[in-house]
Amino acid sequence: MMDQAVRNGTEAQAEHKVEIFLADYEPPKTVVTDIRLVFCLFDTHADITATSTFTRNGDLAAPMVLDAGDMLEIVSVKLDGVAARHSRGKRTLTVEGAGAGGTLEIVTRIKPQDNTKLEGLYRSGGMFCTQCEAEGFRQITAFPDRPDVMARYAVRIEADKASCPVLLSNGNPVASGGLGEGRHFAEWEDPFPKPSYLFALVAGDLGHITDHFTTASGRRVTLNIYADPRDLDKCDHAMESLKRSMRWDEEVYGLEYDLDLFNIVAVGDFNMGAMENKGLNVFNTKCVLASPETATDRDYDSVEGIIGHEYFHNWTGNRVTCRDWFQLSLKEGLTVFRDQEFSADMGSRAVKRLDDVRILRSHQFPEDGGPLAHPVRPDRYVEINNFYTVTVYNKGAEVIRMMHRLIGAEAFRKGMDLYFARHDGQAVTCDDFAAAMADASGKDLSQFKRWYSQAGTPVLSVSRARTGNDVIVTIEQETAPTPGQPVKEPFHMPFLMGWVATDGQAITPVVTGGDWREDGCLLEVREGRQSFTFKDVPEGAVPSLLRGFSAPVRLKSDLTREDLAFLLRYDSDPFARWEAAQTLARDQVLGVTAALIEGRNAPADTPFSDAVESLFADKALDPAFLAELLTLPGEVELGQMMEVLEPGHLHEAREATLNDLATRYEAEMRARYDSLRPKGGYKQDGAARAARRLANLLLQFLARRPGGDALVKAHYEAADNMTDRIAALSAVSDSDFACRGAILADFYERSKDEPLVLDKWFAVQATSRRGDTVQKVRELSRHPAFTLKNPNRLRSLVSSFTMLNQAGFHDPSGQGYRFLAETILAVDKINPLIAARLVAPLGRWARVEPARQAMMLDSLRFILDEPKLSDDVRELAAKSLK
Ligand code: PHE
Ligand code: ZN
Repeated sequence: MMDQAVRNGTEAQAEHKVEIFLADYEPPKTVVTDIRLVFCLFDTHADITATSTFTRNGDLAAPMVLDAGDMLEIVSVKLDGVAARHSRGKRTLTVEGAGAGGTLEIVTRIKPQDNTKLEGLYRSGGMFCTQCEAEGFRQITAFPDRPDVMARYAVRIEADKASCPVLLSNGNPVASGGLGEGRHFAEWEDPFPKPSYLFALVAGDLGHITDHFTTASGRRVTLNIYADPRDLDKCDHAMESLKRSMRWDEEVYGLEYDLDLFNIVAVGDFNMGAMENKGLNVFNTKCVLASPETATDRDYDSVEGIIGHEYFHNWTGNRVTCRDWFQLSLKEGLTVFRDQEFSADMGSRAVKRLDDVRILRSHQFPEDGGPLAHPVRPDRYVEINNFYTVTVYNKGAEVIRMMHRLIGAEAFRKGMDLYFARHDGQAVTCDDFAAAMADASGKDLSQFKRWYSQAGTPVLSVSRARTGNDVIVTIEQETAPTPGQPVKEPFHMPFLMGWVATDGQAITPVVTGGDWREDGCLLEVREGRQSFTFKDVPEGAVPSLLRGFSAPVRLKSDLTREDLAFLLRYDSDPFARWEAAQTLARDQVLGVTAALIEGRNAPADTPFSDAVESLFADKALDPAFLAELLTLPGEVELGQMMEVLEPGHLHEAREATLNDLATRYEAEMRARYDSLRPKGGYKQDGAARAARRLANLLLQFLARRPGGDALVKAHYEAADNMTDRIAALSAVSDSDFACRGAILADFYERSKDEPLVLDKWFAVQATSRRGDTVQKVRELSRHPAFTLKNPNRLRSLVSSFTMLNQAGFHDPSGQGYRFLAETILAVDKINPLIAARLVAPLGRWARVEPARQAMMLDSLRFILDEPKLSDDVRELAAKSLK
C-alpha cells in the first residue's frame, strides 16, 4: 500500500481518481473554524470570495493542500491579506506559506448556468441553488471539503432584485437591503458549526407559504416552503408533514428544533430526493409537491416520509455528523429508520413494513448479490456519489432496526440520548453509535457489528424436529461470498417467531434460549447452526417465522403449503401472514416458469390461487391489507430466486398467474370493486385511501377479463384524483384496448404543463408489459418533452424501464441493453453522477441465461470503450464486468 503523501500526490495529478480506503483515515491537516462567503450572482457568472480562519496540524512547513473542483476558476489567493503563492492540480489547490494558521481569502469564479452536473452552484429554471453533499462545496471554493472540518458560516448574497427577489442561506437572516442598479443583498449567519456539505444557498423568484410551530420548550419557529409561484397550491401537505415530523421527534426522541427559522425550497432539477442543509432543506419538487390532481396516495406518503427524513437529519446528520464518507450510513441508515418509524406511526404500521421489505427484496438484495455488493460501511471507494445506495440507506436502516429489536425500545432511546450527550457537535463513526447503544443497554454488540463490515444477504434455513412433546427448531445461516469478501463470519441477528395452534390461537410454549415478548419469541442467532427447544408444543401447531422481517435475510423453511395457507388465515403477525401469501405465490409462479422453460404443461396445483378464496371470504380484512396480500411479488424479486434467470418465461408465468386469479375470482373481484367505488367526492382519509388501493388493484385484474376495456375507460373518465387516473392509465398502457391511444393522448394533454405529471406519462409507458415496449421507449426518448438534462424526466423513462420492467429491459433482441448503454454515454457527458446511477441493471449479467448474458457484457464493454468516460461510470462499469 502506498503511503498517504504519495497517494495524495498521485491523486492530485492523476488522470483518474484513485480508490481511497477507510483504513487510511487521518485527521484533517487544515481546520477551518469560521468562514465568510460573499456571492455576487450574475446571469453570466458568479464571483465568490471566501474568507476562512484556519489552523493547521502536522508539518507546518508543508504547503496547504485544499480540495478544488474541476469547474472552479481560481482568481486570487491571499494569506493574512497578502497575495500567496499557489498552484492548481487537477482536483486540488496548493497554497504555500500557510504556517500554523491565519486568514485565507480565496476569490473564485464559476458559471452556474453551464453547470449540468447539478453539484455545487447551478441554475434550475431561473433560480440559483446549491447542492454540496457529498463533495459539491469544492465546486464553489477551494476548501478542506470533508465532513470532519466543521466551521461557522456567515454568508452574503448579492443578486439582481427583479430576477432574484428571494435570497436564502443557512441559519438566521441578519441583514438585507438595496445596492443600486437593480441589485440587492441579504446576509445570513448559522450559529451551528457545520461541515461544508451542509452549506446551501438559494436565489430566485420564488413564492412561499408560511406556518409556525411551537416547540416543547416554547420556541416559536417560523416554517416556510418556497416554490415556483405556480406550485404554491401544492405545498400544504408538505407543511403539515413538517409539523407532524417536528412533533414526532419531540415525542419519541425528545429532540427539538434548534433555530427560529426552518426553510424548505422546491427545485425542479435535482440529482437526488432532497437535502438536509442546516435550516435550509432543498427538495426535488417530486418529494415536496402534492395535490390530489397531481399526486397519488403513494406520492403523498413519500412526501411525508421524505419531509420527515430531512427534518430528522437535523439531529442525526447535522448536530452529529459523519467523520468521513465511509460512515455515510451513520446518518442515512439511522435517519431512514427514523423516517420509517415516523411513517409507521402516522399511517398503517403493518403496510409500511411490507413496503419497506419490498424495497429491500427488489432493490437491495439484487445489489447485495451482484458485482456492486458492498458493506453498509464500505471500506473503499473511487467516487463517493456511487455509495448513496440502497445498501447504505435501507440495509443500514435494517441494521438499526435489529439493534432496536435486540436491546428493546427503552434501551434504544437511552442509547440515543447517550449518543447525543457524547457527540453533539462532533463528526463521528458507526462504531461510536454502536458504542452508545452497547453502553446504554449493557449488550455486547461486537459480533453484531459485522453487519457494518460484511456485505451479502444471509440465507437462513429453518427446520423443525419433534422429540416427544417438544419441538427443536434449528436455524442455519450462510452468506455467499461477495466481491473482495470470500469468507463470511456468522452474523448476530434477532429472529422473532411465534406459534399458532390448530384452532388458530396463538400459543407461547416455554423455550430454551429464547425470550417471549408481546409480538413473539425473540431468538438471538449468532452461530452458523443453532437449535432452540420449545417445550410441550401441541401436535399440529405451526411456527410463524421471521416475524416483522426481524432480520434482512432470505428465509428457507420446511413449512408446507398447508402450513402456509394456515398461517395466511390465522397468523397475528402481519408480516408473517403476508409472507405466507408471498411464499405460496412465489411457488406458483416459479412452478409455472419451470414448466414453460422445460416445455411442459403448467403444474395442476395452484397453491396461491387456491388460498385466495379464504381472503375474499374474510369480510373483516382491512382493504389495504387485502390489497397487499393480493399483490404478487414483482418480477425482479422472483428473478432473484431462479438459478438462471429466464426473464421472458418468468414474465409469462407471472402473467398466467394473474390471469388465473382474474378468471377464478372475477365475480368476487367485480363485486368488491363495485362496493369500493366512492359514493361522494375525493377524500384523503385512511379509509378512502385503503378503498382506492384495493379498487385500483382489482381494476388491474378485471382489465384482463372481457369488458375490461369499457371498465377501465369508465374508471379513467370518472377519476377525480391522480391515484385513480394513473391506475386506469396503467391498465390501458398494458393493454391493446381500442381506447388506448386516445387515453394516453388525453393524459398527455392534461399533463403537459405539469412536469411531475408528465413524468408519470413517461413512466407508465416505460413499465408497460406489452411486447413492443423497448421500441416504444426508444421512440419516447426522442419525444420533444424528453430531456437527458432533467434527472426526474430521465429516470421517469429510463430507470422505470431498466429497473422496474425486467421483461422489457431483457427483451430478447438485446435492444434494452443497447439503449441503456447509449443513454449512459450520452448522460455521462452531462451529469456523470446520474449516468453512474443507471449502470447497475447491466451489471447483473452473471445469473442471466447465456444469450442475453453475452449481449449484456457487450454493452458493458461498449461503455468502457469510451475514452472520455467519467470516473463515476468507470468505477461501476468496471466492477460490473469482473
Ligand atoms: N443526504 C440526502 C438525504 O438522504 C441525500 C443526498 C445525497 C442529496 C447527495 C443530494 C446529494 O437525505
Ligand atoms: Zn438522508
